[in-house]
Amino acid sequence: MENNVPRHVAIILDGNGRWAKKRGLKRSLGHKAGFENLKELTEYIFKKGVKILSVFAFSTENFKRDKEEVDYLMDLLVNRFKELESKNVKVVFSGVRDGLRSDVKDAIDKLEKDTMDNKDFILNICFNFGGRIDIINSAKKIAEDYKNGILDLDLLDEEKYKEYLYNSIPDIDLLIRTSGEIRISNFMLYQLAYAEMYFTDVLFPDFNYKEFDKALDDYNKRDRRFGNAK
Ligand code: IPE
Ligand code: IPE
Ligand code: MG
Repeated sequence: MENNVPRHVAIILDGNGRWAKKRGLKRSLGHKAGFENLKELTEYIFKKGVKILSVFAFSTENFKRDKEEVDYLMDLLVNRFKELESKNVKVVFSGVRDGLRSDVKDAIDKLEKDTMDNKDFILNICFNFGGRIDIINSAKKIAEDYKNGILDLDLLDEEKYKEYLYNSIPDIDLLIRTSGEIRISNFMLYQLAYAEMYFTDVLFPDFNYKEFDKALDDYNKRDRRFGNAK
């Protein structure tokens, strides 16, 4: 059977801290290794024909971590995320901008601006992202548009609603979470409605292209019914 490539893959990249701990290293070195892996993996995933890749890089809840770790992750974005730029890939960020450091906001703006004309692929980086806050913000925007006469509520259906979420990102076909945790952790709640889910014990810095191919093989064995009878 011809392998089917999912259009939209989402990854909850988890396990950087444990990867470092196993080696007696600081957590930040786990994040560094995770980033190096993300760079290679992103390239591979688009080469495979996936059109949209969403990655969960920092959750709204991750601000609960020690300042040193949070600062490291912010610095990583400022200093290194531009390395994720590649030909034909439009980079967008989903998440709360308010409250981020100004150099972080500047780096986000620059990456989005530098890649905005790229058309073939979308790399959606979920940073300071929470699925619930995304839904709440969309409800507020809907109320506003309704009040201003821009939105006819009769036209608000499941497709239209997506336009109100960060970057109007479409449904996720395949969700991958590394490191053995079997939960969503407030990721893209709306777009996950009919996603196939793949959980693996592999820690993110070790989740290489071979591991991704395993996830793809698994995806291709699934029977996506969307509520239909078999
Ligand atoms: C994922 O790795 C990266 C972020 C959440 C920023 P973790 O930092 O959560 O790694 P573990 O779960 O502690 O191993
Ligand atoms: C989820 O990972 C968030 C990201 C991958 C950015 P966490 O490691 O923060 O999730 P929990 O706390 O184990 O649920
Ligand atoms: Mg974790």
